[in-house]
Amino acid sequence: MEDCLGVWKLLESAGYSSCVDCGLDRGCRNPHMSYTGKGADSFLVIGEAPGEEEDKVGIQFIGKSGQYFRRVLRSFGKDLDIHFWKTNALRCFPQKEDPSSKVSFCRPAVLKEIEELKPVVILLLGGIAVESIIGYLWGGSTGGIFRWAGFQIPCRKWNCWICPTYHPSYVLRTNKDPAVVLWFRKHLENALNLSDRPYSGKVENLKDKIECIMEPYMAAFVLRDMLEKGKDKAFSFDFETSCLKPDGDKSKILAAAVSCEGKKTIAFPVVGDAVNALKQFLTSDVPKIGWNIKFEDRWARSVLGVDIKNWVWDGMLATHVIDNRSDITGLKFQAFVQLGIEPWDKEVESYIDADGGYEENRLRLLNLRDLLLYNGIDALVTYLLAVRQRKLLGW
Ligand code: URA
Repeated sequence: MEDCLGVWKLLESAGYSSCVDCGLDRGCRNPHMSYTGKGADSFLVIGEAPGEEEDKVGIQFIGKSGQYFRRVLRSFGKDLDIHFWKTNALRCFPQKEDPSSKVSFCRPAVLKEIEELKPVVILLLGGIAVESIIGYLWGGSTGGIFRWAGFQIPCRKWNCWICPTYHPSYVLRTNKDPAVVLWFRKHLENALNLSDRPYSGKVENLKDKIECIMEPYMAAFVLRDMLEKGKDKAFSFDFETSCLKPDGDKSKILAAAVSCEGKKTIAFPVVGDAVNALKQFLTSDVPKIGWNIKFEDRWARSVLGVDIKNWVWDGMLATHVIDNRSDITGLKFQAFVQLGIEPWDKEVESYIDADGGYEENRLRLLNLRDLLLYNGIDALVTYLLAVRQRKLLGW
């Protein structure tokens, strides 16, 4: 948190994106509106922006959609001014401006409020609030509210829950469509039931849990040892490959990572002695877990010439069974919404992209340790998510 605010301060001192630069405050009666409310339940509501009514009085959520939101909360026995703090992703009344273009100007102030208030739950109402907070944590394009609504995200940075839902004005715009109202109420109810913070001790750094083994003979030895000692255990694994499709001239499995029940996770380059040990693992009886397993399946068959034995779980398919919305089945997305793990592919992202399925990506140019860490976290998170999914589905 400090580092982020430090960077913002630096940027601001260099003349970038300072709050007043956006110009929204001109013509506002209550510009730069800070949070209001007593926050008795340590809940922080973040809305979109003050409207005309709010700008007149200097209090959030008193216009039409705010009144509706207050009524819904009252039906759960909550008073917006007493039990919550409330603020907006935009702190000035935007009048005719497109609010999304102004989010980055206000974000430092909103982050500062979070830092000061230390809420247990942050309720995000609508896409602009999602853009402000999740855009910051997620670090990329968020893709709008419908992708995020209803998740209770355990946030590692602030040790709180982040609960996005629809903006009340959207519910009104649908003429209170019963299905939309039902979901809106369900999201709120789930959020209101949260009382404890998600983490009690120090939040672990996943990189510390990955053993990167550079020497092929050592990787082979450790993998065989894991297999020997873990005959009755489940293993997740993942490949990093030189391109998307396994049957081209340039198709190579560059690295593999194997996790034994999330307790021991190794990642290694697939060369030399490690190749046979990997084949032995893939054709062994131990139960195997993957994410989008057709990928590993096709690569193992094409490049290693083996059929993977005893698949028991595909996290991507399970995600789809649990929630059939589009654009949510990616490993990084699920790791973030279910486990609060922020994307770990920032350094790797640009090396993975390639034009078409047979074109080589640039992963070979990446520092090997970075590639193995990335690969290892993929395997580890695949396991952690599978445990959660199996519990949820009653397996
Ligand atoms: N009032 C606010 O203060 N924010 C909103 O997002 C909507 C109404």
